[in-house]
Amino acid sequence: MGEEPMHIRPFCPADEPAIIALWQQCGLTRPWNDPHRDIERKLRVQAHMFLIGEVEGRLAGSVMAGYEGHRGWINYLAVSPAHQGKGYGRVLMEHAERLLREGGCPKINLQIRSTNTDVIAFYRKLGYGMDDVVSMGKRLEDDQGPAFHPRPAVPSALELRLSEHRLTIDGFTTHAGRISGSQWQTPRAPGKWTPAQETAHLMLVYATFAATLCGGPPRELRVPAERALELQRTVLPGILDGKGFPTGARAPAETAPPDDPGDLGVLLPQLRAAAEDFEKALVSAYAASPNARIVHPYFGPLGLEDLLGLLTAHTCHHTGFLPATQPEPTR
Ligand SMILES: CC(C)(COP(=O)(O)OP(=O)(O)OC[C@H]1O[C@@H](n2cnc3c(N)ncnc32)[C@H](O)[C@@H]1OP(=O)(O)O)[C@@H](O)C(=O)NCCC(=O)NCCS
Repeated sequence: MGEEPMHIRPFCPADEPAIIALWQQCGLTRPWNDPHRDIERKLRVQAHMFLIGEVEGRLAGSVMAGYEGHRGWINYLAVSPAHQGKGYGRVLMEHAERLLREGGCPKINLQIRSTNTDVIAFYRKLGYGMDDVVSMGKRLEDDQGPAFHPRPAVPSALELRLSEHRLTIDGFTTHAGRISGSQWQTPRAPGKWTPAQETAHLMLVYATFAATLCGGPPRELRVPAERALELQRTVLPGILDGKGFPTGARAPAETAPPDDPGDLGVLLPQLRAAAEDFEKALVSAYAASPNARIVHPYFGPLGLEDLLGLLTAHTCHHTGFLPATQPEPTR
């Protein structure tokens, strides 16, 4: 251990210039890895596992750990050249290992660049062994290209509802995509909508709620407030439980489709985009205020999770109105 103890603490944004300089000194940066973006990403995921080591008040080391539910990972382990060989690397690793163990991580994996074989002896000293594996990777974002802005993190219950919603939209668009040109413009029964109108209606529903979620005007109640609360208490739970959507309720005028909304090839991508915009607006609204409520014309003010569940059920309900189609030939 060095003469002076290393003080370990979580990274804070003011450390960024010094830490990038340290990584450069230690040969850890590469042209295809933008360290600024690496820091930005880490601050969104388990930021408390991004540690800084200070010796005599000056930044002298770093380690970035993470646990994805199966293995723990170590990145950006560095000790400034002037402080190497004094036990500080071991101290940083001990802290990272403790955080990972506390997080329930059963094993740590490391990747060492093939040009950095010196460090193998260091890790061996700390109890790491060679695994019989080949390391492979695939980039999902080019650090030299435009930055990708992921959705804000949402709790798992909402994630689950979002994936149900995506599956439902996929179900609708896949089914509708197989409808023939003549069926597309044929009402399912006299006085009922065509598949084109069903699609346009869903698009309008997503667009109107997305606009409200983005701060636009609230939806108007179509029933007296007491009736809306009663419907919310008596009818909504069944819908959210997957027991089906009541038939016969008229769509509010703002979501009624035109007589001839357009071609399948145009409308289906538009529906997908509208549903995606709605999801993004909902997630942003959730990040800003998890308890926000949005007025539904028939059910009154709804929490965001219920609104998402309701629109999933609504899209599912309208999928049931699409005509039977030929299944895709099996290969
Ligand atoms: C790897 C690194 C973090 C080690 O930090 P360090 O502070 O020098 O290491 P420590 O002094 O804590 O060493 C711990 C043990 O490993 C041994 N060790 C460290 N580097 C070694 C080396 N190159 N060869 C052999 N043994 C080594 C030390 O002798 C010590 O053994 P001991 O406990 O029996 O005395 C540091 O060398 C570094 O920043 N390297 C450049 C960046 C890098 O390669 N990071 C890892 C990317 S995978």
